[in-house]
Amino acid sequence: MKNSIYTISIAILVLATSCLKDKVGDNLPYPEVTCSDTISFSNDVLPIIQNNCTGCHDNSNGYTFTNHHNIADNYAAIIGSMKGQGYQQMPQASSALPDSVIQKIQCWVNQGLKDN
Ligand code: HEC
Repeated sequence: MKNSIYTISIAILVLATSCLKDKVGDNLPYPEVTCSDTISFSNDVLPIIQNNCTGCHDNSNGYTFTNHHNIADNYAAIIGSMKGQGYQQMPQASSALPDSVIQKIQCWVNQGLKDN
């Protein structure tokens, strides 16, 4: 009896810590966003950038946003400019992207800038 209680508590502990690993924590770049889904770079992030940014930033206007490497390297400038915080508001000459779209990119950053 004592043994099974011990086993059950270990199981609960392991389960609890493995769930916590996926949650937004204090050390993440954007602690203010909650991310319920895993964001995919190729299905979520890249299309957003291609549709809204790459037209003017394919080795032009100071930035190149064409692949995982150059997008991940510039994540702070990308999110800063999408929010108009610390950078000029982008996309230039059109309205800001919806918060839900910006949050997807922030979640991708929080989840470790995966090339998934
Ligand atoms: C219509 C063209 C156009 C689009 C679309 C566009 N940009 Fe820009 N972007 C520019 C130009 C031009 C500059 C340079 C502005 C300057 O130096 O005055 C610039 C500058 C920037 C900068 C530097 C701003 C600063 O304050 O240092 C960042 C970061 C940036 N863009 C990111 C983005 C992102 C992210 C997107 C997509 C959400 C985007 N841009 C979409 C034209 C565009």
